[in-house]
Amino acid sequence: MLKVSNLEVVYHQVVLVLKGVTLHVPRGETVALLGPNGAGKTTTLRAITGLLDIHDGRITKGHVRFDGREVAEQKADSIVGGGLAQVMEGRRVLVELSVEENLLAGAWAVSRREAAEGLERAYERFGILADRRRQQAGYLSGGEQQMLAIARALMSRPRLLLLDEPSLGLAPRIVGEVADLIRSLADDGLSILLVEQNAAMALSVASRASILENGRVVHEGTAEELADDEDVREFYLGLGGDGQTDYRRIKHYRRRRRWLS
Ligand SMILES: Nc1ncnc2c1ncn2[C@@H]1O[C@H](COP(=O)(O)OP(=O)(O)OP(=O)(O)O)[C@@H](O)[C@H]1O
Ligand SMILES: [Mg+2]
Repeated sequence: MLKVSNLEVVYHQVVLVLKGVTLHVPRGETVALLGPNGAGKTTTLRAITGLLDIHDGRITKGHVRFDGREVAEQKADSIVGGGLAQVMEGRRVLVELSVEENLLAGAWAVSRREAAEGLERAYERFGILADRRRQQAGYLSGGEQQMLAIARALMSRPRLLLLDEPSLGLAPRIVGEVADLIRSLADDGLSILLVEQNAAMALSVASRASILENGRVVHEGTAEELADDEDVREFYLGLGGDGQTDYRRIKHYRRRRRWLS
């Protein structure tokens, strides 16, 4: 469904941030893209959705193909119309608008009838949004705003959903709810590319994962393989080889993260 091959991206014509990234999202699967701050995860998503331009970024090498079509040759709106939707980093809800207005903002690419059907589907899946449909989105909790952002992305009935760190800043219980939601979307047949720093959450919902460091994929495999991998356990799950949390290693990982960011 989505094939990113050997992708290189440069910002401001000089800063090379993706140095040959390859990843695939097969139809109906959830694939995780993990990695520390500044690794290039968001940049990868921007390249997929055609949003590099507005950040003065450019693909200098490689391909992004969605359903066999090169996305670099398409405009962002036709990419969305073509079945791809993205939930951006940070909760991008329109805080001044009502929940319903936010949802409708995600339906600009579809007909009025489809938008009405989309609202119905959203309210069925997200009871809390149905209850708050007339309320200003800014009054929702962090977790509810993330649900709204995801519900809005679903309004265009995408076949592939890109999620950029949906667990960021959420309490562990709410992260669990987001994970449940991702699983249920996958059960409905949606293909998902999940960008996360929360490796434990991502590996609990994804079938495969890639780890990006410094613009390169340094590990790739099934979620089980990665969850069992010594390095991944050490650096991304904060676990020692014996399965116990090893605080020395976490400290090392934190230092490493600071250094990378
Ligand atoms: N518009 C931009 N202009 C120049 N450099 C940028 C721009 N956007 C991102 N970068 C740089 O590109 C690198 C990758 O950034 P990116 O946002 O893709 O990382 P990320 O993996 O999403 O990190 P995070 O986990 O912090 O969101 C970083 O070094 C960042 O500083
Ligand atoms: Mg990012």
